[in-house]
Amino acid sequence: MKQYNVGIIGATGMVGQRFATLLENHPWFSVKVLAASARSAGKRYEEAIGNKWAMTVPMPDKYKDMIVMDAEADIEKIASEVDFVFCAVNMKKDEIKALEEKYAKAECPVISNNSANRFTPDVPMVVPEINPGHIDVIPAQRKRLGTKRGFIAVKSNCSLQSYVPALHPLKDKFGIDRVLVCTYQAISGAGKTFDTMPEILDNIIPYIGGEEEKSEKEPLKLWGTLEGDKIVPAEEPLFTAQCLRVPVSDGHMGAVFVKFRNKPTKEQIIDEWKNFSGVPQELDLPSAPKQFIHYFEEDDRPQTKLDRMTENGMAVCTGRLREDNQYDYKFVCLSHNTLRGAAGGGVLLAELLAAKGYFD
Ligand SMILES: NC(=O)c1ccc[n+]([C@@H]2O[C@H](COP(=O)([O-])OP(=O)(O)OC[C@H]3O[C@@H](n4cnc5c(N)ncnc54)[C@H](OP(=O)(O)O)[C@@H]3O)[C@@H](O)[C@H]2O)c1
Repeated sequence: MKQYNVGIIGATGMVGQRFATLLENHPWFSVKVLAASARSAGKRYEEAIGNKWAMTVPMPDKYKDMIVMDAEADIEKIASEVDFVFCAVNMKKDEIKALEEKYAKAECPVISNNSANRFTPDVPMVVPEINPGHIDVIPAQRKRLGTKRGFIAVKSNCSLQSYVPALHPLKDKFGIDRVLVCTYQAISGAGKTFDTMPEILDNIIPYIGGEEEKSEKEPLKLWGTLEGDKIVPAEEPLFTAQCLRVPVSDGHMGAVFVKFRNKPTKEQIIDEWKNFSGVPQELDLPSAPKQFIHYFEEDDRPQTKLDRMTENGMAVCTGRLREDNQYDYKFVCLSHNTLRGAAGGGVLLAELLAAKGYFD
């Protein structure tokens, strides 16, 4: 496989640090640029991070002395040094949209973890096992942007990364009418640790700004269809979501209730989960889990702390599948929010795009 030079925009943040650790020894991608705000620019990476390093593994030596570039002021220079960038920044939505377009127009593809472009109709929002075909909209986007190489591709929100994969193989086979989901989300999803969010200890915060809307709407774009020069979101199933912030470092749990068109048996659901695999598994992409959905038979699994790292944090864990007296079934599901739900999902998307020649 060809080698690609990459940049991380937002390299000092929670997701950016994940990108840096995941890409340390990546077989295809080599990190050449670390960029963040003007506050960090010009500093050595280690100095810019200060006491904000939030990973359980130490900062890789190779990054410590790299000089952080200015993500806004150095676009042309960054674009000339890398084949594409990963982007995870904490800025206003319109500023992120403008920033990502500037990179794309500088002929530097952007793999984004931000929400700003998720509903731009010609920007593919991709979970590689679910809707890999949506990357076919990229030529239409390039036409709109007037670019030859540059484009933006995004990954979906971390909250839905557990329940959409679990529902996906069931949707096509049995038809899904409606879904109710409550999510129990880790503090790293807000870029926080227990040191920087002490108010979460012994507490649950029943509000995460914008999260419920994303959790209800984004699945429909993932299940949408490519029509001409845009992705048209699906109109069903109906979702209703409540999202809570809980005192957990990493890992978003979902409690899901689902009503089918044709109610399957419990065994059929478990079979679909066990047998589900997608394009990343077929192509044997470096970050793809071997088994995407792991079903736990034990009543007290999956647990956030025990199971979030299943297959390097790239798999989805399900359990407690049982009949419900209002919906047909209920179950719980879990995914690692900064791995599969953020940086890992971004790296897997980039691997898919690389394998399909979009960075050439
Ligand atoms: N955490 C998650 O689980 C998760 C999951 C999915 C998606 N996301 C999304 O990923 C993005 C980043 O999240 P995060 O949790 O990593 O945030 P974070 O820890 O607050 O990090 C934010 C990053 O953005 C940079 N930044 C802020 N203002 C900037 C500017 N004006 N120009 C350039 N860079 C700027 C920061 O640089 P400085 O250090 O220099 O300020 C830092 O590198 C957000 O859009 C978030 O919604 C997060």
